[in-house]
Amino acid sequence: MSEKNKQAVTTDEPENLKARIKASYDAIAPAYNAWTVDHSPKRLKYLQQLIDQLKEEAAAESDPAPLCILELGAGAGRPVTEKLLVDLPAAHITANDISTAQLNLAREALGEHGEKVASSPKSTVDWVEGDMMALEFPEGSLDAVLGFYSIIHLPQNEQITILERIGRWLKPGKGRLLANFAGEPMSGMILEKWLKQEEGWMYWSGLGTAKTEATLQGAGLHLDVSKIEIDDVDVQFHWVIASRPAKK
Ligand SMILES: C[S@@+](CC[C@H](N)C(=O)[O-])C[C@H]1O[C@@H](n2cnc3c(N)ncnc32)[C@H](O)[C@@H]1O
Repeated sequence: MSEKNKQAVTTDEPENLKARIKASYDAIAPAYNAWTVDHSPKRLKYLQQLIDQLKEEAAAESDPAPLCILELGAGAGRPVTEKLLVDLPAAHITANDISTAQLNLAREALGEHGEKVASSPKSTVDWVEGDMMALEFPEGSLDAVLGFYSIIHLPQNEQITILERIGRWLKPGKGRLLANFAGEPMSGMILEKWLKQEEGWMYWSGLGTAKTEATLQGAGLHLDVSKIEIDDVDVQFHWVIASRPAKK
């Protein structure tokens, strides 16, 4: 690894962390999006599993309400938001991202409310720009929360907080979280030029499998899937599907 593309481990939260992540994704969005298409097949495997469950449950209801779905760090909306809009019969998707450039690309490709790709007029998306830590939802209001390669950009303490919030936001007896996390505990990792991009400064952290599982269980969620998988970039990720049990 060249001096310029140094990898550093940090225990302290870098100054202006969120502003720096936003600036980096604003700068490298096209390079990231071109790269990610061929590099993250696992997310589509788990997404399909979740979509199949949601469709099956909706089909069992006589007049199902549109599903309320939150996507954290949705990026430019491809392939995940697009697949939700195309595959689900009726869904209201809140697609959040901190990067203006990513969401502009998403709007351009999928439409202001997903109308360019949605296969049903009952499926719509709202693009919500900002730090996922600023989001608020009513208790028990969401059918699904998705976080593909995005919660990993939060410092460890914020990962705990967002998982606790997700535990409250999901509908009891129904709501599910699908997300991936770092495969190993990481206090904080910085790469100066991720994807060989001059402006690709990037930060990730991870609680580790055991602490992520314990945090999810502490948030009242049941682990349906908890599995380490190696992505094709030879990096391990911890994949989780966790559901909120019905209230007793
Ligand atoms: C690795 S990309 C993943 C994008 C998309 N989920 C995918 O699977 O391709 C991470 C995304 O998370 C966004 N992000 C990073 N930190 C964030 C934060 N604190 N709040 C919201 N979005 C964030 C980035 O802007 C970026 O678009």
